[in-house]
Amino acid sequence: MTDRYCVLGNPVAHSRSPAIHAAFARQCAEDISYQAILAPLDDFAGSVRDFVAAGGKGANVTVPFKEEAFRLCDQLSERAATAGAVNTLTFAAGSILGDNTDGAGLVRDIATNLVFPLAGRDILLLGAGGAARGVVGPLLAAAPSSLAIANRSADKAVALARAFAGKVAVDAGNFADFAGRRFDLVINATSASLAGESLPLPAGLFAPGSLAYDMMYGKGETPFLARARAQGAARQADGLGMLVEQAAEAFLVWRGVRPDSGPVLAALRAQRAA
Ligand SMILES: NC(=O)c1ccc[n+]([C@@H]2O[C@H](COP(=O)([O-])OP(=O)(O)OC[C@H]3O[C@@H](n4cnc5c(N)ncnc54)[C@H](OP(=O)(O)O)[C@@H]3O)[C@@H](O)[C@H]2O)c1
Repeated sequence: MTDRYCVLGNPVAHSRSPAIHAAFARQCAEDISYQAILAPLDDFAGSVRDFVAAGGKGANVTVPFKEEAFRLCDQLSERAATAGAVNTLTFAAGSILGDNTDGAGLVRDIATNLVFPLAGRDILLLGAGGAARGVVGPLLAAAPSSLAIANRSADKAVALARAFAGKVAVDAGNFADFAGRRFDLVINATSASLAGESLPLPAGLFAPGSLAYDMMYGKGETPFLARARAQGAARQADGLGMLVEQAAEAFLVWRGVRPDSGPVLAALRAQRAA
């Protein structure tokens, strides 16, 4: 019987996850289906319950439900517990298991696909929501020289930095607090561009040779990447590679087999360019 999976989010219509998991399933000869489900903002738990009742085996979770998903789980992987956010749910024997594959996906895309090693770099992470929470641990594990977190609501950035205190000093504040600082890598983990809003980036953030990375992806250049290019970032990358890599990691969690992400990412990029 075909095993059912889905991605739950709001909005979710833009998600490429169904196409990615369909490609992985073909590649690995796994009998699964995968759909996008729009969960109401006030009843994420109800959408999960309905999907489990309909025989669902697992779900990815996207904006804005990753922290709510964390609270819903009966058991957590170590990386989900550290992150305080969940993007991968597995339903087994009446229990909900939570994992977080965002950080592994981001680090793999930047370090391997984009060949931008993270060790010794100064990194600025923009945002302190579910996606940002998921990537702080894996970024720190890659041994950067420093990590700073800037968020519109500075208190959330400070709380996130405190959650990782003791491992490496993590600076936190709002965007203006980082005026005058330079970074090798600036990662946009805010959802500002989903609403068509731009970020108040101080001038001079980008060091020579720096990479601007937007977790957001879509047709054409995102507003953050356009701004980063204008401000002197040497390289720009959107989040399509992270999306494919976090999906490959989720597929491994669910099916026990790691798909080859390279051809799937190449096909998505080719489709987008067409
Ligand atoms: N490529 C991938 O695989 C991948 C994976 C995960 C996430 N993402 C993307 O990452 C983004 C964030 O997702 P999430 O789950 O973290 O969402 P979330 O939990 O809702 O958090 C949203 C974050 O964006 C900030 N924000 C929202 N609107 C803003 C604005 N106009 N100006 C400045 N900051 C703003 C929020 O700041 P406040 O705290 O001040 O509200 C918060 O830090 C989304 O665009 C999502 O699509 C991509």
